[in-house]
Amino acid sequence: MSREILLLHGPNLNLLGSREPQVYGHVTLEQINDWAAAYARRRGVGLRAEQSNHEGALVDMLHIARNWAEGVVFNPGAYTHTSVALRDAISATGLAVVEVHLSNVHARESFRHVSMTAPVCVGQISGFGWRSYLLGIDALLGHLGLLPNPE
Ligand code: DQA
Repeated sequence: MSREILLLHGPNLNLLGSREPQVYGHVTLEQINDWAAAYARRRGVGLRAEQSNHEGALVDMLHIARNWAEGVVFNPGAYTHTSVALRDAISATGLAVVEVHLSNVHARESFRHVSMTAPVCVGQISGFGWRSYLLGIDALLGHLGLLPNPE
C-alpha cells in the first residue's frame, strides 16, 4: 500500500489487557494493532504500529516517520502530561498527529487534564477505549483528505 500511517504507543501501553482493566479495558495492544491495521487497510491505507516506554525512542520514531508516514495516531501515555520533547518533535517534524487516549483524561486526576502534546496535534480523542484508536484513524484520514466525502 503506497500510503502509510504510523500508530504510535507510549509508556505502559505494552501492558494493555492486564493493566488496570477497569480503566483501560481487557483488550491487548496486539489486538488493537491488528484491528487498527485491518481498519486502515479497508480505507486503502497501510499502518505500522510501534510502542516504546522511552521518551527519546518515541522522539526518534517521530523523526523517522517524517520520511515515510502520511501522519500519526499517537497515544503518548503519561508523556502526554509531561513531555516538552514530544511536543517539540511533533512541531519539528510537521507531521499531522491525532492524539488518542483510551480513558477520558478530562474525567480523571487533574494532572491528566493538561496535555503538552494536544496543542500541536490536529486534535485529541479521549475516552472511547480501544475504539479511540479507530476514531483516531478516521480523524487523521479525514484531515489528510483520504476519506470520501459524506454526500
Ligand atoms: C492514557 C491516559 C494517560 O493519562 C495515562 O498516563 C496512560 C494512558 C490513556 O490512553 O487513557 O498511560 O494515555
